[in-house]
Amino acid sequence: MNSTLYTSSLQAVIFDLDGVLVDTARFHDQAWAELALGLGYVLTETDRHALKGRSRADSLEYLLEKAGWNDADPSQKSRWLQAKNARYLELVEALTPQDAAQGALVLLDQLKSQGIKTALGSASQNAAKVLQKIGLDSCFDTVVDGTRTTRSKPDPQVFWMAAQDLGYEPAHCAVVEDALAGVQAALAGGFLTIGLGDASVLLGAHRVVHQFSELSVQGLQAWHFAFNHNNT
Ligand code: BG6
Ligand code: MG
Repeated sequence: MNSTLYTSSLQAVIFDLDGVLVDTARFHDQAWAELALGLGYVLTETDRHALKGRSRADSLEYLLEKAGWNDADPSQKSRWLQAKNARYLELVEALTPQDAAQGALVLLDQLKSQGIKTALGSASQNAAKVLQKIGLDSCFDTVVDGTRTTRSKPDPQVFWMAAQDLGYEPAHCAVVEDALAGVQAALAGGFLTIGLGDASVLLGAHRVVHQFSELSVQGLQAWHFAFNHNNT
């Protein structure tokens, strides 16, 4: 689309963290799979997709139900949550700025130079640590993470908080997400929803790209223009 032919009112882009800005989704996946094995349960592909994007506590509840551990008491649950997180943090330790998604820093800089605000919208309570490890800790206009939210994706709370921090309506913001729960949260919140991954999994997303490097300021603006003109 020729940029002289339309005016996009895209004001902000909200990025999920795990699986979007850095490939930590595989670390969450591995830590949950190891915990599940300890409970005598082997995670299926469906489980792996279902766990993506959800808070740590919600993920454990999902897993316990699947594994048939319906009578675990709160102190045992708390030990499992700590064990899972300790294993995840062990895996995260090896991250460096080289692990940031290819093109992430450039896109964030380009958005900034075009006057488009950026936000992080993540369920993770480890977001600050991960951002610091990959060198993106001072790149966002606002950060909303699992230390601030009270409701887990697919609830749109995390994205609404980010939009509110920036002072924009959801209709003027785009969300980039790799998880179905995150796509559902962004759609429910009224955002232009960009899926990163497999279109057959990220059902309902307005657009789906396979790699972060396929995102560009001009592309996001064009998609946002189409979104606001019911032409996605
Ligand atoms: C999300 C991940 O970003 O954060 C989920 O996609 C994870 O897999 C959730 O469960 C919570 O993360 P943390 O770091 O607080 O355990
Ligand atoms: Mg994610």
